[in-house]
Formats: sequence, structure tokens, C-alpha cells
Amino acid sequence: MRIFLDTANLDEIRKGAAYGIVDGVTTNPSLIAKEGVPIEEQVKRICEIVDGDISAEVVAIEAKAMISEGLKLAKIHKNIVVKLPLIRDGIIACSALSKEGIRTNVTLCFSPAQALLAAKAGAYLISPFVGRLDDIGDVGMDLITSICKIYKNYSFKTQVLAASLRSPLHVVQAAEAGAHVGTLPYKVLDMLFNHPLTDKGLEQFLKDHAKAFEAK
Ligand code: G3P
Repeated sequence: MRIFLDTANLDEIRKGAAYGIVDGVTTNPSLIAKEGVPIEEQVKRICEIVDGDISAEVVAIEAKAMISEGLKLAKIHKNIVVKLPLIRDGIIACSALSKEGIRTNVTLCFSPAQALLAAKAGAYLISPFVGRLDDIGDVGMDLITSICKIYKNYSFKTQVLAASLRSPLHVVQAAEAGAHVGTLPYKVLDMLFNHPLTDKGLEQFLKDHAKAFEAK
């Protein structure tokens, strides 16, 4: 499973990239707004840090405007993936941009039926939101399982990008379900490292080594 960082914060992206395990970055209008820098500028900086897929989302909601915004975003860097909301106009824009050879990430997906539409429209990535479904009492991970099954049945090329992952358990379950990508806030990436037995074991190794070899 590829791992993306779900943030537009450059410090977090630099810290994550230093591990050498970050394959891309996803942003959305809320994350860009949090940084207070226009999207063109911010994604350009992100592209300089991570050499992988960088999702940049349009804010237009009418197909024609979405397409021209998408074309502009795609021109920023070869790694830009144009993110489009899963609304009717978003699917029109996805079909048009895909035909132009522009890679798209169709976002705000909350049902397998929506995911089917995105695949038919040639989306490069589909972003089903796990945590937000959990928030309303659904089992978000079931959506990942269902989309993976449907895409496999018909050999769709669209990759499943599990989004709105809020915990290490979400990440593991998304990987078990067969998601091609998981996008994680920096906090969740950091949590993946933690295990008390790792800390305890290392402490013991160092203690034993020091006892045997360090000057008394
Ligand atoms: O980028 C979209 C998604 O990952 C947002 O996550 O936690 O705001 O539902 P969240």
C-alpha cells in the first residue's frame, strides 16, 4: 500500500518525507486554507519536497470551470493529480480531464455506487472517506472493502485511496481490505511507529550492552 500524507503543512511534509516512506501528499481546500497560502504556491512547494502524487483540489463546482481550474493546477507540476468532488459536474470534469491524459482524484466518496461512477469516468484515484462515515455511525471500512471488490471484479484501473483515516487501526484495516493507497494525517503516520515492547526491548538491549562493555 502506498502511503500519502494528508496535509498541506510543509513542516509535517518535511518530517514525514525524511523517513523515506511517503509516496505522495493529498490536500483539500480546508487543509490549504489552514496554511493561509494560495493553492498554486503551496502545492508547488509540496512538489519540491515529495516526488510523488500531489493532489490539488478545485474549488469550482460547475464542470466547465472545474475543467479550466484543473488544467491550470495540472500545469504547476508533472506530479499534480487534480482532485474533484464527487458531484455530477465533478464526474463530467473527470471524464474530460481523463481524456486529456490528466490524472484525477475523485473525492468525497461515501458509497460504492459513487465509486463506480468515478471509475467509469476514468479517475486515477477514488477517495472514500472512512472516518467521516464512522462519525455518523456507519462502518466506514466496509466502503473500502466494497469498492476494492467492485474494481477487482471489472479490472478497473482506478486506485482506491482510503481517506479520512484517523487511527493506526484504520490504516491496517485499509491495507487488509486491499486499498492501493492510504492517506494519513501526520499524527496518524507518527502513531504507526509506536509499540511499548519496541521501547522496552531497546532499553534492555542497550542496558545489557552497556553492562558488558562500558567502563565500570
Ligand atoms: O483529505 C480528505 C480526508 O482525508 C479528510 O479527513 O479526517 O477531515 O475526515 P477528515
